[in-house]
Amino acid sequence: MSGKTVFSGIQPSGELSLGNYLGALKRFKDFQGANDSLFCVVDLHAITVRQDPAQLRQRTYSGVAWYLASGLDPAQCTLFAQSHVSAHAELAWILNTFTQMGELERMTQFKDKAARHKHNINAGLFAYPALMAADILLYDTHEVPVGDDQKQHIELARDVAERFNGIYGPTFVVPKMVAPKAAARVMDLQDPTSKMSKSVDSLGTVFLHEDEKTISKKIMKAVTDNEGMIRLDKDKQPGVYNLLAIYAACHDQTPEEALAQFTGKGYGDLKKAVAEAVVTVLAPVQARHKELMADTAQLDAVLAAGAAKARARANKKLAEVYAKIGFTPRQG
Ligand code: TYM
Repeated sequence: MSGKTVFSGIQPSGELSLGNYLGALKRFKDFQGANDSLFCVVDLHAITVRQDPAQLRQRTYSGVAWYLASGLDPAQCTLFAQSHVSAHAELAWILNTFTQMGELERMTQFKDKAARHKHNINAGLFAYPALMAADILLYDTHEVPVGDDQKQHIELARDVAERFNGIYGPTFVVPKMVAPKAAARVMDLQDPTSKMSKSVDSLGTVFLHEDEKTISKKIMKAVTDNEGMIRLDKDKQPGVYNLLAIYAACHDQTPEEALAQFTGKGYGDLKKAVAEAVVTVLAPVQARHKELMADTAQLDAVLAAGAAKARARANKKLAEVYAKIGFTPRQG
């Protein structure tokens, strides 16, 4: 054990995308074993947008299966569903009272989602970051491996932790975000100025379950530019930059290392190489995911064991927080 605690979560709000894989899932296995690591399917977060119950259940199983297929081993980490550990919701309530309206109003994810779901801008969607802070702070988390889009949420979790500690004395570890060295923000293949999202079903998003032909077609159709040169220029050539970042992440390289392999080559060569890299990286993960999904009873068992481990520590932390706030001790 390195002594570090690592926590991350993925919402079962849609089919997972290549962005979820390269920005988060792919590297989770590197954090298990040597660290104290927890990975969660955050179903409570998912219901901030209306979900079909059967689909939510299915996507939660699928999320667990993607975690396992990406190399997580339940013997080396704690893998669980957020709704199975009620301390998350309880601490979220407490942290709501330490989070300011103004802070929540500034969150870009809230602004984006509120714009996309105009008829359901609910209080849960607004308070989402306080629940996310609870997820992280409950376990004395040091590091949170996530994609770039979660930066604002992690900063808020840090601020809330510091605020609470400032009032009640040292209680929460102030967590740090860990971004990947490439593909921290995988962009939409059709609009490389927007994030690739699992909530947008289009040619611009590669979904993890898609077959080789579909994935290759989407990548070969990726929007580039008229510069005609492969360079790493995020502002002038966002499409090419995105392809190089995806290639780099698939090969565990930096974008600069990836660039060196394309001197004198054209956009067609680049797209072909990216398609091949993505298909190669995903093939074994997809195969394992399919096997795991055939046995949901086994996934239930993984979740049950994970929740039991998480619950014990979460309840302990919650009791510490309740005592500091001045609640009388729970008897039994
Ligand atoms: P979610 O479910 O949207 O995404 C899961 C993970 O995938 C990353 N990600 C991306 N990375 C690179 N490029 C992209 N296009 C891309 N799209 C998504 C996300 O950064 C994330 O790491 N609020 C979180 C879930 C959450 C959480 C937590 C995460 C809830 N509680 C506690 C960490 C710790 C979310 O909506 O992720």
